[in-house]
Amino acid sequence: MADSWTFAVARDDLGRSTLVDGATPEVVDGEALLRVDRVGLTANNVTYAVLGDAMRYWEFFPPAARGLGPQWGLPPLWGFAEVVASTVAGVEVGQRVYGYLPPAGHLVVRPDRVDASGFRDASPHRAELPSPYNAYRSTTGDPAYQADHEDLLILFRPLFFTSFMLADQVVDNGFYGAEALLMSSASSKTAYAAAFELRGRGPRLVGLTSPGNLAFTRSLGCYDEVVPYDDISALDTIPTVYLDLSGTPSTRAALRQHLGDRLVRDIAVGLTNQTPNADAAEEVFFAPVQMRKRGQDWGREGLDQRFTEAWQRFTAVVSGWLDVQVGVGPEALQQAWADVLAGRTPPRVGHVVQL
Ligand SMILES: NC(=O)c1ccc[n+]([C@@H]2O[C@H](COP(=O)([O-])OP(=O)(O)OC[C@H]3O[C@@H](n4cnc5c(N)ncnc54)[C@H](OP(=O)(O)O)[C@@H]3O)[C@@H](O)[C@H]2O)c1
Repeated sequence: MADSWTFAVARDDLGRSTLVDGATPEVVDGEALLRVDRVGLTANNVTYAVLGDAMRYWEFFPPAARGLGPQWGLPPLWGFAEVVASTVAGVEVGQRVYGYLPPAGHLVVRPDRVDASGFRDASPHRAELPSPYNAYRSTTGDPAYQADHEDLLILFRPLFFTSFMLADQVVDNGFYGAEALLMSSASSKTAYAAAFELRGRGPRLVGLTSPGNLAFTRSLGCYDEVVPYDDISALDTIPTVYLDLSGTPSTRAALRQHLGDRLVRDIAVGLTNQTPNADAAEEVFFAPVQMRKRGQDWGREGLDQRFTEAWQRFTAVVSGWLDVQVGVGPEALQQAWADVLAGRTPPRVGHVVQL
């Protein structure tokens, strides 16, 4: 019975995609079935696809299980799903969870470490993959959950966690002695969320963005200065940390040339430009490293509390300007993918799809 579906992209050409029908999976003992309900799409999801092989993101949701060949990949998404069948005590039909989801109608999970806060998917093919992606949080056991803030959680939760830990790492290291923090793709959600965390803490915050996104990025009020990519030669030559979210090789080259040894740290965070270039940076930011350190410094509860406070400060601000555009159904997901991939989505917009 064709009552489920899967969206996939060609691994060697992310602009080529397919939507296929399939039967709703059956569950066996130890499994539960999630119906994917509401998800978001930002440049971060495209990055998962760009790094699909290198960082094993393609392995979370194997295409073969859905009758698709290995030339296809399922880009992971963040959002909410509903438990529609379960053989596992504590995972109940009707329960709503937040987590890492396939672009598909359903996901079979093997719940483990079940408690009031949710569960982990212990499916064998996910065992070796980074553990933060295997957690499903129950809405009823989640202090950050608010029913009327679901779209903010969908769009920002994983990004904001990175922004929070990135900002914290920079502060924790005394800003690496810099007088300026420079961010590329300053109009991206991850960049401006970090800027809101860093604002007023010491160094000057400078954003780099495309000419078309200058006005929006300036309007945010979280940067001291916003400069277009082709105006790097106008930047002050003061000790600067580069937090790179675009990954554009020519931007890095221009900065190195202009700043010379005043570029005191060069940290790769993202690649909205879709060109893998972590090797060219001095280091790659990886949130779990700083998270582990702060877990030791502050304890798990201290970290959670600081994160929740920062999340609440940020959502109070961002909800004032974010334009959530809600599409309906798998075709809307396919369209949103095409728009985000091509860079057609204005930075003010957040794509959410109700499936
Ligand atoms: N290391 C980590 O753990 C981690 C965690 C979260 C996110 N990230 C990364 O941070 C980056 C930003 O993610 P996000 O979801 O926050 O992005 P987003 O809000 O969707 O960012 C949109 C911005 O990215 C740039 N952009 C979008 N499409 C583009 C295209 N096709 N070509 C060139 N530039 C394009 C534009 O910014 P400009 O005009 O300002 O350049 C655009 O305004 C992603 O690469 C993501 O993977 C990394």
